[in-house]
Amino acid sequence: MTGPEELHGVTLLAEEAAALAAMADASSVAELERLRVEWLGRRGRVTEQLRAVGTLPADQRRTAGQRLNALRALMEKRLDARLAECARRDLEQRLIEERLDLTLPSAPPAVGRLHPVTRTRRRLEDAMVRLGFSLFEGPQVEDEWHNFEALNMPAEHPAREMHDTFYLPPPYLLRTHTSPFQVRSMKAAQGRLPLRVFTIGTTFRRDDDPTHAPQFMQMEGLLLDVGIGLGHLKGVVRQVFKEVFGGDPVLRIRPSFFPFTEPSVEWDMQCTLCGGSGCRVCQNTGFLELLGSGMVHPHVIRAGGYDPELVSGFAFGWGVDRLAMLAYGIDDIRLLYQNDLRLLNQL
Ligand code: PHE
Repeated sequence: MTGPEELHGVTLLAEEAAALAAMADASSVAELERLRVEWLGRRGRVTEQLRAVGTLPADQRRTAGQRLNALRALMEKRLDARLAECARRDLEQRLIEERLDLTLPSAPPAVGRLHPVTRTRRRLEDAMVRLGFSLFEGPQVEDEWHNFEALNMPAEHPAREMHDTFYLPPPYLLRTHTSPFQVRSMKAAQGRLPLRVFTIGTTFRRDDDPTHAPQFMQMEGLLLDVGIGLGHLKGVVRQVFKEVFGGDPVLRIRPSFFPFTEPSVEWDMQCTLCGGSGCRVCQNTGFLELLGSGMVHPHVIRAGGYDPELVSGFAFGWGVDRLAMLAYGIDDIRLLYQNDLRLLNQL
């Protein structure tokens, strides 16, 4: 092509005609983009010429302007048409190349699992139900009478020192242990015997260190009937340990004190990590302090609406988080509540 030629009423220079032909033939999006920049970009050839129209002699401006605008429209039309075609073809090509198999199963969704405290809780529940105890739930927001007074802990009792908690408008507070369930379950049973119940749930204390969280969980059992003695307590608690830990754990019992049981007995289990030889977890004692228990105090039995002259019973309680820490080898209770996947994924 040498001289000017006509296309859709526009007089074209040879170069312009060649560019239009190239636009119609371009085989890739990148090439079309390059042509667009070269001709229609901010410093493109058509753009520059349009900008220069104002410097032409007045009688030439109109024709030159019209010609360039028509050329620009023509180029845009061509580029757009070809661009759509190239994009469609590229997509088809990619679909073939990537062998997209829509029948393949999708990536499996991430599945969570139960928290170690929940798993421990369920194991305890299963064990207690197997032993014939039924679940009785009490409120987490307790009143002072059920949490303290009914359990032989009047206002100035020194035992309250270990039970500092979060107070709500009187007489309410967040329960410091599950023991208020003793009186609540007795009252609910209305004198029926035997009473064989357990509870499991959240408790609160003003504590915060590696082995004490301000919110923790306890499990507690209660058995009340005619003629119940310390021998029954020992037999049942031993069986609970067997159910929960499996095998025949080595146990040690010590006299202790709780205001709501008399006598009171604490239970230690031989450390499962070192087999009794002493380690960091058992603080070189060879034993782990696990469970508090005792014969229910006559005052508590009376508060529950039973006659302590006629019936007797025992209660035992322990920390669920504590058991979870042992079962999963966790040395800081706070780790259980931080929802850190780096920890949870290991358990
Ligand atoms: N409630 C006691 C505590 O929190 C544990 C306990 C329960 C003791 C039942 C005796 C009987 O420390």
